[in-house]
Amino acid sequence: MSDTFLKDSVTVSSLNHESDSLQIEALYKKAHEDRLEFWAEQAEAIDWFVPWENILSWNIPHAKWFENGKLNASYNCLDRHLGTPTALKKALIWEGERGEERCMSYQELYEEVSRFSDVLKKLGVKKGDRIAIYLPMIPEAVVAMLSSCRIGAIHTVIFGGFSAEALQNRIEDAGAKILITADGTYRKGKHICLKQTADQAIENTNSIEKVVVIKRTHESVHWNSSKDLWYHELMKEAKFASAEMMDAEDDLFILYTSGTTGKPKGIVHTTGGYMVSVTTTTRLVFDIQEDDIYWCTADVGWITGHSYVVYGPLSNGMSVFLYEGAADYPQKDRFWKMIEKYKITVLYTAPTAIRMFMKWGETWPHGADLSSLRILGSVGEPINPEAWMWYFENIGSNRCPVVDTWWQTETGSIMIAPIKGHGPLKPGSATRALPGIDAVIVDEQGQRASRGYLTISSPWPSMLRGIYKDPVRYQNTYWKDGRYFTGDGAMCDEDGYFWISGRIDDVINVSGHRLGTMEIESALVDYNLVAEAAVIGVFHPIKGQAITAFVSLKETATGSDELEDLLKKHVAMRIGSFAKPEKILFICDLPKTRSGKIMRRLLRDIAEGRVIGDQTTLADPTVVQEIKGLYQED
Ligand code: WTA
Repeated sequence: MSDTFLKDSVTVSSLNHESDSLQIEALYKKAHEDRLEFWAEQAEAIDWFVPWENILSWNIPHAKWFENGKLNASYNCLDRHLGTPTALKKALIWEGERGEERCMSYQELYEEVSRFSDVLKKLGVKKGDRIAIYLPMIPEAVVAMLSSCRIGAIHTVIFGGFSAEALQNRIEDAGAKILITADGTYRKGKHICLKQTADQAIENTNSIEKVVVIKRTHESVHWNSSKDLWYHELMKEAKFASAEMMDAEDDLFILYTSGTTGKPKGIVHTTGGYMVSVTTTTRLVFDIQEDDIYWCTADVGWITGHSYVVYGPLSNGMSVFLYEGAADYPQKDRFWKMIEKYKITVLYTAPTAIRMFMKWGETWPHGADLSSLRILGSVGEPINPEAWMWYFENIGSNRCPVVDTWWQTETGSIMIAPIKGHGPLKPGSATRALPGIDAVIVDEQGQRASRGYLTISSPWPSMLRGIYKDPVRYQNTYWKDGRYFTGDGAMCDEDGYFWISGRIDDVINVSGHRLGTMEIESALVDYNLVAEAAVIGVFHPIKGQAITAFVSLKETATGSDELEDLLKKHVAMRIGSFAKPEKILFICDLPKTRSGKIMRRLLRDIAEGRVIGDQTTLADPTVVQEIKGLYQED
């Protein structure tokens, strides 16, 4: 990481007008002096049915923001734009992989959502019920989310790449009553039958009463007439349903994310604080303009899709572009052709995608007119300075600022990022914490330091309110000495810019997908021939990190290419294809401390060719020789 400090800073005129800069410094200062007042002012930007009585009540680690305020998230994304010029503006512009197009104005989206809300009510969904959403990137995914919160239900969106088993686990943990899915989707020209996976997922679950199926691909699907209902059939009879009055602290959604144990955490977000934070940060970070066509490439199955495809942009009345398919279908210029065609002004994507585009070469983006672009965003993992510069030069023509945004599923909204008037950017740094955000680096002793653990030291409106059904894990995982521990390591330079180095716990980031090493290890150990497994993330030039698994087998088994293949398939079945190890190495024993803890750090050192750190606690030093030997053979 120290190299990145040597890079020159980049001054982008659109981020650097003097008048903006004075204004922004005043905003930072004001927010710093009175954080609560800053957030109270931001809260005025959304619509409340009943105003809040108290900005924050804080009983570490339990926050209540905008206490007793009443609002509805769907109302804020839709109804409040009706009767304004935004009603006729495009809310969603969609393109499918095969080139199909659909558009919905705010008025049309409002009507669709109101009617689907009525459908859900008629299916017996009540305030507080959970709805599972397993859909591709189609407008109905947005409709499903907004309809759920419109009637006070809590959605849990599960990324379409998760396997049946992963879907089942999430449905069960959430106790979801309704599952919303589609017949299928297209990816790289191939039909993927989501309905089949959904069917497998609910085979052995009791909570799902009805499955609403959207006809997307028109491919035939297996039909269970006691549970399955077509979306378009249900919508025929639907009336308009109004938005329920929700308390600021009523749950809005649960989103499962990986942690340091084998079991994913159901991160809970509530209505008021979340809506205030996502509305504010979308406006500040993307410096939104009336005629923006905004494209965040994240899937709605992840937090970026929740906050910056759906709630943040729609609450601000933006035109949101959605794309369903792959970046290289039919050719490697698909993104650039769509930017040209729809005149996209803001592009928000992940470093892994940028590095892939770099590998494909400049010719692809240079073949399209990208002059509509105004701002380029990055999210999900540290962006290396080379990728930052490539993005800046080749996609933004040295004109568009690259806003590197650091945040997490748990934070709900962007925490560290540059905003208009911010001043010079430094490739590889997410710059400063946003106004109202108290990001602090601390050392092992919990003292402020310039390098160490990234923490958030004061509550913020969109902070997670807990882990679903697991208050103890919430307290233990995140909170120490009144600070929220992010799990990331960071450094702060002399200008107060943050440089995030990545996870310091057993969470890895593969192509922007967050995975727990323990989650993958449990999947491997579950295979009948496996005795033990240790999973690490190793540097990968495109994916950021790739998964390497070290596996010891039961006595009767021997390692082989076939077994490696079977194990990879097994992980795909347990979690999803995106969690498959890139490499599996069979070893006699895992390196462990004398107390039996697997030494992943040592495995990482060997895998990345570093000098091996402290080995004094290692129980059996011969294990290291064995693993080193495997790498030499490789
Ligand atoms: C990493 C995604 C460096 C980080 C929004 C964090 C980043 C984890 C950045 C959260 C960034 C996200 N620079 N690292 N700009 N953005 N991360 O929950 O390690 O899927 O803890 O949320 O991604 O991943 P999650």
